[in-house]
Amino acid sequence: AEQKAALLANWLLTAERTVFFTGAGMSTESNLPDFRSKEGWWRRIDPRTVATPDALNDDYPLFKDFYAARMKSLEAAVPHAGYHVISSWESRGMVQAVATQNVDGLHRKAGSRNVYELHGRLQAVRCSRCDEQASEQDFRRGIPCQICGGKLRPGVVLFGEILPEKDWDDALAAVQQSDLIITIGTSLEVYPANQIPLMSSGRSVYINSEYSGAAADFDLVLEGRAGEILQQVDRLLKSVKK
Ligand code: NAD
Ligand code: APR
Repeated sequence: AEQKAALLANWLLTAERTVFFTGAGMSTESNLPDFRSKEGWWRRIDPRTVATPDALNDDYPLFKDFYAARMKSLEAAVPHAGYHVISSWESRGMVQAVATQNVDGLHRKAGSRNVYELHGRLQAVRCSRCDEQASEQDFRRGIPCQICGGKLRPGVVLFGEILPEKDWDDALAAVQQSDLIITIGTSLEVYPANQIPLMSSGRSVYINSEYSGAAADFDLVLEGRAGEILQQVDRLLKSVKK
């Protein structure tokens, strides 16, 4: 594993344009559950009951409680050291952008600037009928839209919905121009976000705590925790830089 981290450090130094692609596994060390590992959300609740447009219409109280609980857990969530490594690499010009499936906003909180949020942002609450922006507090209190009385919803992409066009286009362009893509903390089970890592014409790296079949398509696979591996690579880079 040490020599794999050293190889990744070398690839980071020699690459011209590096892009990160992250998933829920990037936030478990910030105490936010992922979806498909053993403590994941979808082990406790069927996503079709809360993460689809029908869920919003069929059982709004369940829908609202699910997302209100996730918003509450965000209050205590802080980006772990791995997030700060990625943002420090961006400010040193070693990383161009981060495309993320996460809706927790932790990349921006850690100082990353070029962040493409493919599945939206939990706290960007809006009316499900007239699209009017609304406050997270109103959503969590179950208050309807002030303009049209419609049901409020979080700004996340539900299963079957289309992804935000600008974020998708920007992420795709960044990955297509990259010569190194580092995919971290994602099972790569959800379409179309899972197509992004395949669009890079350069080297590809998969960092995950569990092996996933999709890893076979990557040039380098590191099994382990995102925060630990990112700090290990950062230490190696600092030793080389001296
Ligand atoms: P899908 O029906 O293929 O389900 C997507 C994933 O959800 C599956 O790969 C599976 O891993 C998981 N899943 C579904 N039912 C499950 C269950 N009962 N238990 C555990 N896991 C279960 O949905 P899809 O339409 O192919 O997903 C892609 C679409 O959904 C895209 O349009 C995308 O924009 C959107 N999307 C939604 C979310 C969300 O938070 N709800 C996140 C990413 C993408
Ligand atoms: N370090 C590295 N990998 C981790 C860590 C960690 N600390 N913790 C968990 N993982 C791994 C898990 O083993 C799992 O394979 O991260 C992966 C997370 O995969 P998912 O739970 O499927 O999350 P993600 O791939 O982001 O899901 C995609 O599905 O429901 C939607 O909206 C949801 O955007 C999400 C999408």
